[in-house]
Amino acid sequence: MVENIPEISRINLFLVANFIILRATNISYLKLRRIPMKVAVLGAAGGIGQALSLLLKTGLPAGSELSLYDVAPVVPGVAVDLSHIPTDVKVAGFGADDLNKALEGCDIVLIPAGMPRKPGMDRADLFNVNAGIIKTLAEGIVASCPKALVGVITNPVNGTVPIVAEVFKKAGTYDAKRVFGITTLDVIRSEVFVAELKGVDVATVKVPVIGGHSGTTILPLLSQVEGVSFTEEEVATLTPRIQNAGTEVVNAKAGGGSATLSMGAAAARFCMSLVKGLQGEDVVDYAYVAVENGDAEYFAHPVRLGTNGVEEILSYGELSAFEEKAKNDMLETLKKDIKEGVDFMA
Ligand code: 2OP
Repeated sequence: MVENIPEISRINLFLVANFIILRATNISYLKLRRIPMKVAVLGAAGGIGQALSLLLKTGLPAGSELSLYDVAPVVPGVAVDLSHIPTDVKVAGFGADDLNKALEGCDIVLIPAGMPRKPGMDRADLFNVNAGIIKTLAEGIVASCPKALVGVITNPVNGTVPIVAEVFKKAGTYDAKRVFGITTLDVIRSEVFVAELKGVDVATVKVPVIGGHSGTTILPLLSQVEGVSFTEEEVATLTPRIQNAGTEVVNAKAGGGSATLSMGAAAARFCMSLVKGLQGEDVVDYAYVAVENGDAEYFAHPVRLGTNGVEEILSYGELSAFEEKAKNDMLETLKKDIKEGVDFMA
């Protein structure tokens, strides 16, 4: 029958079909962009929590809700303050006794709660204080939103992520695809330092960072950065700078805490990756996740995100001899950090 349609009508049919396809694609695209999210920030009144909440208030899809929880009595004020910013994201503040209410129906929970480092402290020094805090918060998630995607910022991330996983395992609600240690700060710092060193536009720089989130366990893969190359000396200088960048901030703040603004920006960027995944977009980002048959029980990898959290753990590819050695040298430390978290819940 199609043969009998005059040429002009065929073109019209082609145009109409294209129009329908474009409209359909556009509509589903718009729908994707518009799925509202409920996101909780636990520890929202702290330095990281406030920066992160501000960025989520201005960045989450229209119609979303932002649930701010903190034991600090200032948290309702933080919520009121943010609520005066004209975006279509509702903000509510919840105090110490309202953890379960804060978490009800959340799609994503981000946890910056806990004590930050002071000069001379290692992230591992925070374990004794922060382990109990993260345990209590994870128990709240079990009770109120066991299907939420959980992003852990509380240090030491190498050990607090296993604590969250163990709490969920005990409750029978564990899904390894839904628990993340946020290592995006290592990625963004690497982007900045590489761009500075090589004089290139930071927006074009991508640096894979694998391993953990503490000292030598942070492993930037400079051999995989596209478009630039590094001398052996540059690698030997830049790698420890990235690994110790958190300490650089701690020392510069001279007792006033650790990175808050850059950490807030990093966590917001990672949260937006989770949001895109939940909305059905194909997105790959780096995070510290549970890995089967990997280098360690938990290890930062590139992961494909989707509607269930981690859809696929991707290979980090080939390492240079320097990176291979650095990885092998740090595994004992990383495994010890992980064991400390697991043992805390034993
Ligand atoms: C950092 O890397 C706070 O862990 C954070 O600075």
